[in-house]
Amino acid sequence: MPSVPCYGYSGRDFRYGPFVAVTSLRRKVSVGAALGLLLVPGCHVAEHTQPHAEAIGFPVDEVPGATVGEHVVETDHSVVGYRYPLLGAGHPLTREVRTVMAERQTAFLEDLSGNGRPELRQDVSLLAASPQVVGARLTAVSTAGMRESREATTLWFDADSGAVLPWTALFRDEEAVERAHVLLADVLREDYDLPLADLPGVVGEAARRAEEEAGATDEPESAEASPDTAGAAGAGAAAPTGAFDAEWAREAADAWSGSPLEDVAFSTAGGLAVRLDPTRMPGTGQVSDVMLPVAPEEAEELLSELGFHAREAALSGPDPDVFLEEGPSGEGGSLDCERLRCVALTFDDGPGEHTDALMDTLAEYDAQATFYVLGSLVEEFPEALERMAAEGHELGNHTWEHDDLSGMSAEDIEADMARTNAAVRDVIGVDPPSMRPPYGALNGTVRETVGMPIILWDVDTMDWRSRDTDEVAAHAIEHSTSGSVVLFHDIHESSVRAIPEVLDELHRRGFHFVTVTELFESGLEPGDVYTDARHG
Ligand code: NI
Repeated sequence: MPSVPCYGYSGRDFRYGPFVAVTSLRRKVSVGAALGLLLVPGCHVAEHTQPHAEAIGFPVDEVPGATVGEHVVETDHSVVGYRYPLLGAGHPLTREVRTVMAERQTAFLEDLSGNGRPELRQDVSLLAASPQVVGARLTAVSTAGMRESREATTLWFDADSGAVLPWTALFRDEEAVERAHVLLADVLREDYDLPLADLPGVVGEAARRAEEEAGATDEPESAEASPDTAGAAGAGAAAPTGAFDAEWAREAADAWSGSPLEDVAFSTAGGLAVRLDPTRMPGTGQVSDVMLPVAPEEAEELLSELGFHAREAALSGPDPDVFLEEGPSGEGGSLDCERLRCVALTFDDGPGEHTDALMDTLAEYDAQATFYVLGSLVEEFPEALERMAAEGHELGNHTWEHDDLSGMSAEDIEADMARTNAAVRDVIGVDPPSMRPPYGALNGTVRETVGMPIILWDVDTMDWRSRDTDEVAAHAIEHSTSGSVVLFHDIHESSVRAIPEVLDELHRRGFHFVTVTELFESGLEPGDVYTDARHG
């Protein structure tokens, strides 16, 4: 028996359980042996050693080539933060992880009681990464005063279909899912002496169904050999083939909501490792996650084709080729605004002397904005444009020097658009993806000529007229709804000063601040006019 430390964490050192980057087989074995001790009172090295109990997982920042995106907002009333893997521009898994975390953040902020300064921290690690499948484990820890709660779930990207699927996709069918729960129940009953009646949630339900079925059969032997028992085919089952049913996987995940299998991983021995929150284990006095091992030969009979690929990827370690070198920007939104409360803050007529202060505020909230700039000002403030691009903001074309396009010829409009686009492109390397006509002035010629999507607004703060910080903030906060495009002018100091309050209040109300392109994720057509991205 190798000398291993007593496993278990306490207090703030707790970091999502036994998630160890596996670097060598030797390490796998020694750590795996340690993990078998989890439930032994006093942590004696004892008979519960189960080498297949270690979950394979890799902290994203320790995976070669992988990069992490981070979103943190600290305010007087709360601290929220999440980290997500950057798997290239618009990668479905990056987007899904971010969106799930953003949804949870909104729910957390809506639930603030007004006491103290609660925190929500979300993190991600990789369970598997190959060209065929990428598995991510999402963890959330929320603290409010002395109370702390944790949740964990997994998401699986299937490269064949391009879909991001829940844990159920690892299993071949409903029967396999049911069987997996019975296996977990067996571990709890046999290794941890939990009586059937104490088995938690869906695990207990599955165990009691199995018990009833066994009781309904007169001869236990025939139940054992029953062909409708998953695993009747015997050990060493081959990977199933055939079309994968994504719809079934999603429905099954809903039906089995609350299952410990939501936090499933592969074990270093090729089986399954399932973490169980200690609060679901009455009477065990656990402080650390409980690991429920499922042996490789049992797991094999349950896994889908995706499950086999995922297991292979987990066991062989992350493939660096999976991680593209691109950053988070680019085609495709990074948040799914159909499921979130998104708003696009837009700033016209700049850049100007207050634009930097505005970007400082936006950075505090990790907020993205869109700047409709004048081409004639670009030369004066090139650093502002560089910073906008570097910090993930979007540039838009607001003409060369704010002429009313509706009074111009097609030729002149075309020349103005091209000149302004070129000025932006010279600084940041790409053309603005959309334009906004000065004064919102439009006619048929403008629409036919600009050659870009035309973005207006649905919330007009009238900041240029009032020049009143409180009024501007109140208007923006009162009128913004999900899908809104809000109009400000960053050339006015009074407007820039209103933004901290706007961001603070809308953040608290669960809004996410995205660029125009992200807000209109279903796409923008040149010459079409948009005021908001309201859904339904
Ligand atoms: Ni303007």
